[in-house]
Amino acid sequence: MSSLEYLKNNSLMKKFPSFRNDFVNGCWKWIEGKKIDDNAAGLWRVHDKLYDLTDFIPKHPGGRAWLEISKGTDITEAFECYHLSSRPRDVLENYCVGVATQERNYRYTFDDNGFYRTLKREIGQKMKSVDKSVEIKPKIIHDITLVAFLMSVVFVSQVQPNDYINANYIAPVIIAGLLLEWLVSMSHNFLHKADNWRMYTGNLSMAATRDMRTFHILSHHMYPNTYADLETTFFDPHFKWIPAEVKDLQYKIQSIAVHVNIHTLYFFNMLRMRIQGFFWGTAETFYWDDLVMFITPALIYTTGTQSSDIIEVIFKWLHIIIAASVFHVIGLINRGHHTTTTIHQGDEIFTYDFGEYQMNAVCDRSGANMNIFTILTLYGEQVLHQLFPSIDAAVLPQLKETLIATCKQFDIEMKKCSLVGSVVGQYKQMFRDELYIGKK
Ligand code: HEM
Repeated sequence: MSSLEYLKNNSLMKKFPSFRNDFVNGCWKWIEGKKIDDNAAGLWRVHDKLYDLTDFIPKHPGGRAWLEISKGTDITEAFECYHLSSRPRDVLENYCVGVATQERNYRYTFDDNGFYRTLKREIGQKMKSVDKSVEIKPKIIHDITLVAFLMSVVFVSQVQPNDYINANYIAPVIIAGLLLEWLVSMSHNFLHKADNWRMYTGNLSMAATRDMRTFHILSHHMYPNTYADLETTFFDPHFKWIPAEVKDLQYKIQSIAVHVNIHTLYFFNMLRMRIQGFFWGTAETFYWDDLVMFITPALIYTTGTQSSDIIEVIFKWLHIIIAASVFHVIGLINRGHHTTTTIHQGDEIFTYDFGEYQMNAVCDRSGANMNIFTILTLYGEQVLHQLFPSIDAAVLPQLKETLIATCKQFDIEMKKCSLVGSVVGQYKQMFRDELYIGKK
């Protein structure tokens, strides 16, 4: 078998994602490609049935956006991992309009006696006895961080114009950037839940809730480390975490050279995609919540001591975003997906069980699991989060024993590494070009 044929067959997806090699000019384009690839007949597909959920959109307890974004696609994976009770399945059947005529594009399996469904039953059972009062902690920590961020913006606004190369300016900008990065990471916990106001604080960074739900959740969470993982694609062709790509000397030098730019431009890139999508795309890219990002410049404008020079305001705002981008990218390369121990597109897949694949694609980093603050800011308890994304970050540690017990039952090993190990591992992964074949 030729290597191309091997890759085509040895993948979660049966089809190479449409538009995968096009310049990323919006999350909307990933959805457009998925609509082409998913054989969902313009409706919503769950396993092999088609559903018309148009009337259910306003009734969905998780909020409208999930179903609005995913119309015309196969939502099997999201449907399976976002709901622990049997109620969504009962509700779903009311909207069935037929059976799909073509096979599913994804090879994932959800066998009732397989690892994922068994674990889901165990976790569902355990959820009845966990202490849910801890869910208040992420809310309090998030709200304090939000207030601290807004205060730090006021500090930044106080510096006199043209006094940027000064510790009195740089220090508050760095603090504001760090607090903003924490907010983005903390809002991630709320992004995975039913619509709520805290998920919008991530928009202060210039990112957008809908885009994050698309590239991070519907793409990256569902198909991690594959060609269908848009979060992995963002950095192409500069960072190629997928081993089956050409990684010659030019790439290696280039990836190091652009590293710095990616650090500073990360959040601007999020806005760039929406602007490009607006002008050259075919779908809506701006929504009311895009206005959230203007809270920062508005605060600088209204609390600044100088005579509200608009250029000054914009400079200060952009400096904060750059600082937040740097911290975010430093955190991003530390999130346990791209290490040489995790499976990536092209590596041999030994099982297509949804849970087992996820276990092979994600690493548990003990340093990120230390306490609720590290879980929120460094994306701790990553394996459990990947398997059951709508469960609150504060509840996850109580479910660890159940995960370990079920892994034992199925003889599945949880991939583990230290925080430092995951950073080093991601660089090694960036340069790995040998596929793991015949190697678990
Ligand atoms: C893209 C696919 C979907 C996603 C990402 C999603 C996400 C969510 C989220 C985040 C919640 C709130 C969970 C919580 O508060 O713990 C939720 C609840 C719920 N969803 Fe969905 N949903 C999806 C599709 C559907 C569909 C197709 C149905 C049924 C037609 C459905 C029915 C429900 C119901 C009944 C609940 C209430 C929770 C329960 O009773 O267990 N969802 N969903």
